[in-house]
Amino acid sequence: MSDYADAAAAAAGAASSGASGSDGGALPILLELLGGVTHILLQLGFAIACLAALVLLLVFVFQRRLLYVPVIPGQPAKTYQYTPNDFNMYYRDVPITAADGVKTHGWLCRSKQYTVLRSPVTIFFQENAGNISHRLPFAQMLCATVPSVVFLLSYRGYGASEGTPSQKGIELDAQACIDTVSDQPDVDGNSIVLFGKSLGGAVAVAMALKNPRRIRAVILENTFTSISEMAGKVFPFLRPIVGPGQPLNSLVRERWESLARLKEYFGDESSDEAKAFPPCLCLVSAQDEMVPPEMMERLYASIRSPRKHIVTFAQARHMDAYVRHRDQYWSTVKDFYLR
Ligand SMILES: *[C@@H]1O[C@H](CO)[C@@H](O)[C@H](O)[C@H]1NC(C)=O
Repeated sequence: MSDYADAAAAAAGAASSGASGSDGGALPILLELLGGVTHILLQLGFAIACLAALVLLLVFVFQRRLLYVPVIPGQPAKTYQYTPNDFNMYYRDVPITAADGVKTHGWLCRSKQYTVLRSPVTIFFQENAGNISHRLPFAQMLCATVPSVVFLLSYRGYGASEGTPSQKGIELDAQACIDTVSDQPDVDGNSIVLFGKSLGGAVAVAMALKNPRRIRAVILENTFTSISEMAGKVFPFLRPIVGPGQPLNSLVRERWESLARLKEYFGDESSDEAKAFPPCLCLVSAQDEMVPPEMMERLYASIRSPRKHIVTFAQARHMDAYVRHRDQYWSTVKDFYLR
């Protein structure tokens, strides 16, 4: 009996101590729970930070491959399936050697109706993706519209050109292209128009600033202010670190800072010293899904030229103004040449 009573008393004691334990232990358990949650959150935060760092590292390491896309994935490379002949143009392949020895080339295209002996020339600088054969439908319309021959430059690493693309290299290619094309016997080297779309617009700006008195006119279409500003548009998570006034712009190696270059060239607004800049036509696709149209407007505003025009195509997207607004687009371009 007494054993039983002792056991009962012990059980009661244990129960009461258990009860008192649970009264005084609500806080520790909560803390323990919180600790566990905090631990998980910390781990999660750490994992996210690692992932973000990894993505940043990848974007940093592969920035050239993200920017320059000579071969559209899944398509075979290194032969052209189409040449200007397939688009009703005469053409000649022109080899070009850049100052650093890299060999590129381009196509000097002539409309079959155009028979001027020493022709003005329009040098076309293409966008970042694909090769010059993709620009033939556009080149055909350009050739048919403007009083000039058209030269399509294949940047280094693109199409049948040697080398790998980079800003420094492409600028060397573009300069060598201007020099080589001016020397062609059937081309009037004093009458060069530069036409650049998107990335090619940044090439055209760089060349116009380098050769302001040699270039007769410049046409820019849907080009960006700088790659660091574009980076934040394409990858919103980069916005806090790269772009105007952000801390990590030095990580952007391929800068193409057209706006900063123009501003630097023209200098302080109040200076009277007129800097030479060719007449300039800016073509803007209002529905551009890649380059925000306001970037074109800021570029346009920064240019000081005796003659500049900006024309907006209301329904056009990044690549299609010349077909979607066919009449308006080509009459705008033609007027610019004839004025
Ligand atoms: C040009 O691009 C097309 C399509 O991506 C590809 O099939 C062709 O081989 C390329 N040409 C060259 C010379 O790289």
